[in-house]
Amino acid sequence: METAEIARRFLSYFEDNGHAVVPSASLVAEDPTLLLVNAGMVPFKPYFLGQRIPKWDRATSVQKCVRTVDIDEVGKTSRHASFFQMLGNFSFGDYFKERAIPLAWDLLTRPADEGGFGLPAERLWVTVYHDDDEAADIWADSVGVAPDRIQRFGMEENYWSMGVPGPCGPCSEIFWDRGPAFGEEGGPLADEDRYIELWNLVFMQFERGPGGVKKDYPILGELPKKNIDTGMGLERLAGVLQGVDNIYETDTLGRILHRAAVLTGTRYGDHHTSDVGLRVIADHMRTATMLVSDGVQPSNEKRGYVLRRILRRSVRNLRLLSGEDRNYLHDLTETSINAMADIYPELRTKADAIHNVIDTEEKNFADTLRSGTTLFNRAAERTKSTGGSVVSGADAFQLHDTYGFPIDLTLEMAAEQGLSVDADAFAELMQRQRDAAKADARAKKQGNADLSTYSALVDNAGATEFLGYSESEAEARVLGIISGGESVPAAREGDKVELVLDRTPFYAESGGQLADHGTIEVPGQGVVDIADVQRPVPGLSAHRGTVRSGVITLDDTVRAVIDIDRRASVSRAHSATHLIHSALRNLLGTGTGQAGSENQPGRLRFDFTANRQLGNADLAQVEEEVNAVLANDIEVRDFQTTLDEALSMGALAMFGEKYGDRVRVVEMSDYSRELCGGTHVNATGQLGLVKVLGESSIGSGVRRVEAAVGIDALRRVSRESLLVSQLSEQLKAPREELPERIDGLVGRLRSAEKEIERLRAEQVLASAPRLVAEARELGDTLLVAHHAPDGTTGDDARRLALDVRGRIPSDRPVVVAVAAVPKDRPVVVVATNEPARQRGLRAGDLVGVAARALGGGGGGKPDVAQGGGTDAGAVDAALRAVTEAVAQ
Ligand code: SER
Repeated sequence: METAEIARRFLSYFEDNGHAVVPSASLVAEDPTLLLVNAGMVPFKPYFLGQRIPKWDRATSVQKCVRTVDIDEVGKTSRHASFFQMLGNFSFGDYFKERAIPLAWDLLTRPADEGGFGLPAERLWVTVYHDDDEAADIWADSVGVAPDRIQRFGMEENYWSMGVPGPCGPCSEIFWDRGPAFGEEGGPLADEDRYIELWNLVFMQFERGPGGVKKDYPILGELPKKNIDTGMGLERLAGVLQGVDNIYETDTLGRILHRAAVLTGTRYGDHHTSDVGLRVIADHMRTATMLVSDGVQPSNEKRGYVLRRILRRSVRNLRLLSGEDRNYLHDLTETSINAMADIYPELRTKADAIHNVIDTEEKNFADTLRSGTTLFNRAAERTKSTGGSVVSGADAFQLHDTYGFPIDLTLEMAAEQGLSVDADAFAELMQRQRDAAKADARAKKQGNADLSTYSALVDNAGATEFLGYSESEAEARVLGIISGGESVPAAREGDKVELVLDRTPFYAESGGQLADHGTIEVPGQGVVDIADVQRPVPGLSAHRGTVRSGVITLDDTVRAVIDIDRRASVSRAHSATHLIHSALRNLLGTGTGQAGSENQPGRLRFDFTANRQLGNADLAQVEEEVNAVLANDIEVRDFQTTLDEALSMGALAMFGEKYGDRVRVVEMSDYSRELCGGTHVNATGQLGLVKVLGESSIGSGVRRVEAAVGIDALRRVSRESLLVSQLSEQLKAPREELPERIDGLVGRLRSAEKEIERLRAEQVLASAPRLVAEARELGDTLLVAHHAPDGTTGDDARRLALDVRGRIPSDRPVVVAVAAVPKDRPVVVVATNEPARQRGLRAGDLVGVAARALGGGGGGKPDVAQGGGTDAGAVDAALRAVTEAVAQ
């Protein structure tokens, strides 16, 4: 049975049993405790905790997951994958164990032609938590599993939590017997290789506190309701149903694996090492494709680093297998897209953008490998030359930090040269860097408070209600005051605080739109000036500011008022961003995606993926198209709809953003339609004018346009216009003739400079007769040592030296030295004649003497030589040194 069919069957089985089919959430987790979604239940966590009320009490999903803790195991075992899909059914306070257990068993064992998976019951075993008699009884009595096939395990195996504070509960697992060839008889207790876990049914009933990952944590109490969370790895089930020994040989991963074998000229099954390499490539390329599709961009931190690391491991494995320096990723990305598009059709529409990101990273890494290899070789040389065998942690860190070398690459390259690496020192440097980065990020998002302070507030009081789409002021209640990182009962004049209200007109910074400013006031008692609003945890707005006067206390009723001029100006920028986005897609094609944006008062920047630079003509076209839309004064509408509906209307979703299943769409007739939570103008005419200010590259494959909007755009245009008027007056030329006039001026300036140059040279050469007359006699040697005027070039000094030498009768030894400072560094030229050379006075040696005095070096032929130095003040000393050398 094909993987896509397994997924369809799973969903339709649970749909038939009254479950809502919920699409997979983005891999980019909304949960601030996670980098990436790593289990099917993650998007539902707030429902289990009772923080949000679901629209359905039963749901089923196939959720994309990424886990990288075991990344080193990938390819070596039969079932570790960095990307996998979790089939799950969920009950939010609806059914519990009594229904979850029979449902799972029925689906697994029901014959394939009746919509099940047709697994023979005699190859299934089950486990329960050691004291969960209730579950054991259900297995035995309602399902009819033989009691000796029900085994009991402790906390580590049969109690599930996310590893961090949150929902948890005992679980029951269904195992598949791979057969006697794989190990001992006797169920999961006897052999964990022969019996593999297929499906985990979690009876989500309690809430846990901080502590160990799998055990040693406190149970804080019961959840508001008893829930069900089940998870079955789609890849594992596919392995069982397709009769293959490991997940890399299933239909989807197998396709990528075989393509990698063809590309690298290897054969799967030939050697253990090359097989591991091929499995790693298949796994990583699929994961990378899925991550990029959810908007992750390669970078040196967090999710971006996960992506960068797996792409670089793929490149390295491909090159090791093939022994060639070629680019393979485009081909394998395409194979991955084709392998996965059955379940994720959006991969095809995003294909151009996905290729763009991955191709660029591959190219960058190739450059990195070249320069990093040089650096590595130098570090290795240094290590060996001092008799050591350990490459320092600092070198490994620099390779990582500057060249993006994964540490395992450095380790491997070191091993090839018989060296090791100081991994502890490396780890310490990495940790230091991470701590610093974390502290920076925290300072922005969280202020000084610990996330748990905010979480506690949302848990107790619920999400902040946002009124700002229609209201600019509102009455609200103070639910929380955070000062100095802690919840406090009151704040007074001068205190820096964060206020949490039950409702607010203030827009919190998000989706690239900067926060509202304004005031929160308790009439007659105190005022707080608000200068920023952030959402440190989902649903909660923290208003940051300073108490201007008086006191503000918990539970106060306040008036929250936003600065409407700022809001209007930011909204204009945000609407302009949507228009520019559409214009860019019209120009560059639909492969162009949004990579970020910032909307400030009167100004915006928009980052997008593109594989070429935009010229002036491109920018002019974008600007004109956008301003034409303003002139048409199109109505800006927003409405709520389902995610599916919005996408089918062609609404642009921000690459990588995660959306709930109800979404807000902002529409400007057919010209622009985007999923967006921001604030906008009512009609495009309100923007007045949009002026594109410029375009630049901000990283691999990502470019940025900046623009001014409204009165700011006008100011910009008038400033420039004024500048042109001034130029026109100064140059006494009509505006349209300015470029020509300036060209003319620049040309004339250039020839004037050349003329000056020529005259100066003439003047320098004109001094020759005088220098001849002033030649000094040192014994029978004639010496000219001349300090030429500043600005004399090296060439002119040489010409002068040769000219002077030629003018002096050649029967006596002649030495001519000319030194000067052309710009800021001194030069010296020495010329000698034949009799001088016979006397041992060689030009090259004498220049060496002079150049040393100038703080530099030089030399050359015996008859004429040139040198230079750095000390412009030492010209006379240099000439004296030559004189002394000649005298000796
Ligand atoms: N949350 C459980 C797991 O991830 C079951 O879905 O295994």
